[in-house]
Amino acid sequence: MGKFYLTTPIYYVNASPHIGHAYTNIISDCLGRFKRIKGDEVFFLTGTDEHGEKIKKAALADNTDVLDFVNNVSDNFKNLWEKLNISYDCFIRTTDSAHKEAVKQVIIKLNENGDIYKAKYSAFYCMPCESFWTDTQTKDANGKCPLCSREVEKVEEENYFFKLSKYEDWLKQYLKDNPDCVRPKTRYNEVNGFLDNNKLADLCISRPKARVSWGVEFPLDCEYVVYVWFDALLNYLSGIGFGVDQEKVDKWWPADVHLMAKDILRHHAIFWPIMVHALGLAPGKIVFAHGWWKIGDEKISKSLGNIVNPLDVIKEIGVDALRYFLLREIPLGADGNYSSEAIITRINSDLANDVGNLVYRTLNMAEKYFQGDVSCDDCLLPVEFKQSLQALSVRYINLMDDLSFSKALELIFSFIGVMNKYIEDTKPWALHKENNLSRLKVFLCELLEGIRIVSLYLYPFMPQTSEAINKQLGIDLIFSLDNIQWRAKAGFSTKKGKPLFPRIDVS
Ligand code: MSP
Repeated sequence: MGKFYLTTPIYYVNASPHIGHAYTNIISDCLGRFKRIKGDEVFFLTGTDEHGEKIKKAALADNTDVLDFVNNVSDNFKNLWEKLNISYDCFIRTTDSAHKEAVKQVIIKLNENGDIYKAKYSAFYCMPCESFWTDTQTKDANGKCPLCSREVEKVEEENYFFKLSKYEDWLKQYLKDNPDCVRPKTRYNEVNGFLDNNKLADLCISRPKARVSWGVEFPLDCEYVVYVWFDALLNYLSGIGFGVDQEKVDKWWPADVHLMAKDILRHHAIFWPIMVHALGLAPGKIVFAHGWWKIGDEKISKSLGNIVNPLDVIKEIGVDALRYFLLREIPLGADGNYSSEAIITRINSDLANDVGNLVYRTLNMAEKYFQGDVSCDDCLLPVEFKQSLQALSVRYINLMDDLSFSKALELIFSFIGVMNKYIEDTKPWALHKENNLSRLKVFLCELLEGIRIVSLYLYPFMPQTSEAINKQLGIDLIFSLDNIQWRAKAGFSTKKGKPLFPRIDVS
């Protein structure tokens, strides 16, 4: 059994979660569930990023005590993850005392290594991005923030710095030696391009308390707090017990995949590997930066005022329909256009017509012809299924390991299409009319066995649906890829439920 350590970004708690945040956690959940059914031991970490001026301002604007405010918004994230069936193992908050302690220990260690110094500092600050920019960087962006194009403010102060520049050559070599450490390829090229065109500046990792008070106290100087990004990135270590449980760290580190969107690629592909390396550890194996969900040409984001609340969406269409849409509609890495039309099309064609209809009519026949009792000792794999089922068993694991979720779904649905066609071609109603009940029973057993296998393949994407299917099949399936084999001896005692995915009427 392998281990698999998977992380999502920790989300800012200045506002409640939206569909963009839901996307990252749904992808991560899909990957985590897949690894579990494959037999790996998984540690899936998510959480909230709760420090920094932006958060304090949001609490002030809400007239709420900062701690109450962050507790409340953090709970909103937890609540959403529960509704979306996100099977995380640990929810970390940067206000947790163990996390704060880990941050302090890291700074003390880096200081002992000679990697931290104090100096005067002048830069342009973007509060929404919690990022500093140099003169040239802001000039190139017409005096605005190079990331989000919003206004920046000039800041001059004494601060503590981490010697990022000392590790520039190491990082370049590391990237060269590990061409898959940043994915997709476009993002890998972007990171290399950035390093080729910019000399790495040291990272300012403190903020004077006089200006920013909401943060982890800087362990070397109580007049300062730790820069929120430096604090936040360390969640990937504190979340597995850094500073308190070395055995746990040894067990899980390095992370196997850090998932996030492209907006925070540089923090994860430049700052983070250097921080970890400076601590004497190996960097996380893969940083995967996915694309953005947009409405029209604009990224969905709170500051642009175009957010979609996932709770509203699942009230309308259900959790698994949302999960399916997000995982199927775009390949991981690409941007996607979010619209109700696109969702309805997917629901009606793939979910209602294909999988929903297959399950519903098969169970209908099982009940109508055999009162739901369908078993058989000689249920051989029909030749009609062979090709697509074989393609699935050969490619599914590779596609999922590669995070090619949309392609994996395409394959599963092509098998579902084959089963639907098998019903049309076999004409079971005619078999019934001819009183050919033995063939009819084997035929239904073949379909039920096919549906059982489909429910296993679908499990990482739509766990609730897979469970519902198994209930309707009257079996107690353990979700493990060990159970993926076709069984010639199979028995079902079906209990037809409501259609899994009713069609949505658009008229
Ligand atoms: N707190 C930092 C992350 C620190 S990680 C050590 C942060 N938080 S955030 O709340 O702004 O979340 C950013 C992340 O939310 C993105 O990287 C992405 O995972 C997700 N998304 C936010 N909006 C999104 C879209 N419109 N589309 C896709 N993902 C989106 O940055």
